[in-house]
Amino acid sequence: MSVADPRPRVWVSQPLFGDVIARLREHFDVRTVDTITQHSPQDIAQALGDVDGALVTLNDRIGAAEIAGASRLRVIANVGVGYNNLDLPALTQAGILASNTPDVLTQTTADFGWALMMAAARRISEAERWLRDGHWQQWNFETLLGGDVHGSTLGILGMGRIGQAIARRAAGFDMRVRYHNRSRLPVEVEQACAAHYVDFDTLLAQSDHLMLVLPYTPANHHLIDAAALARMPAHATLTNIARGGVVDEDALADALANGRLAAAGLDVFEGEPAINPRLLALRNAVLTPHIASGSLATRRAMVALAVDNLTAALGFGPAAGKPPSLLNPGARAASG
Ligand code: DGY
Repeated sequence: MSVADPRPRVWVSQPLFGDVIARLREHFDVRTVDTITQHSPQDIAQALGDVDGALVTLNDRIGAAEIAGASRLRVIANVGVGYNNLDLPALTQAGILASNTPDVLTQTTADFGWALMMAAARRISEAERWLRDGHWQQWNFETLLGGDVHGSTLGILGMGRIGQAIARRAAGFDMRVRYHNRSRLPVEVEQACAAHYVDFDTLLAQSDHLMLVLPYTPANHHLIDAAALARMPAHATLTNIARGGVVDEDALADALANGRLAAAGLDVFEGEPAINPRLLALRNAVLTPHIASGSLATRRAMVALAVDNLTAALGFGPAAGKPPSLLNPGARAASG
């Protein structure tokens, strides 16, 4: 007869570095899945129904319906800095703590934003496809001419930690940096980033390369729509490493197809992993599968931080009771 594990129960929703997840087994009865799974809302509700904590990714949407029957659930640890997959007010009201994984991915994500912007501006994906397809018969002075990055104006929409890291890199490229953010940054931070605050319309009009790094909320759904794109210079590029829903993809496809915008670099998509077929058909769109934070070291660090958050939230480990990156301290009050 097997004896049930009396320790708190934890659900890990996706396969994530097994050796890092193994740390949870020191304190908890851990349930894992073997393959990447698109869990249905019903499956998530069932999995959450008899656990004390869960470690989830952006694939897993958790709202009021999914936690309705989760009477023992005390924490959701999200592996990701963005947490638009979580209904934070619903979790807070239910007294369930939520955490994310900031900081550990800042530099890696900033690197990737630059890579995507440069690939879009200098037509790198298009050039590689053209070469592999056997079109390079003879060197030609005017083949695949792109736009310059150095000496141009970088626009950053969303000036949190990642936006600031992107801005700091611009010094090496001799660029002017303009930014727009919900609130203006302290002067010392602006100076450290050599970045100038402008309003949204000015940012659109002045950016040669516009980078989207803002958190996704219902308020900025399709913020970059046809009207916003029409305010950008035709030689500009748009790079999105935030969330797909910030951009109206049909409007973007129109702008890229009719020369209203030079190029786009997109790591995130509204219906990902499904991609708008119009974007797939455009040679001036560089498309990557949501990998901006995807260096091996950073993805491991993200999982490790989520493990720390979950462990601490359930009262174990060196930070017991003090999860390092808690999103909703108010949940404690709600749970009494
Ligand atoms: C994040 O951290 O929000 C990334 O988009 C996913 O890893």
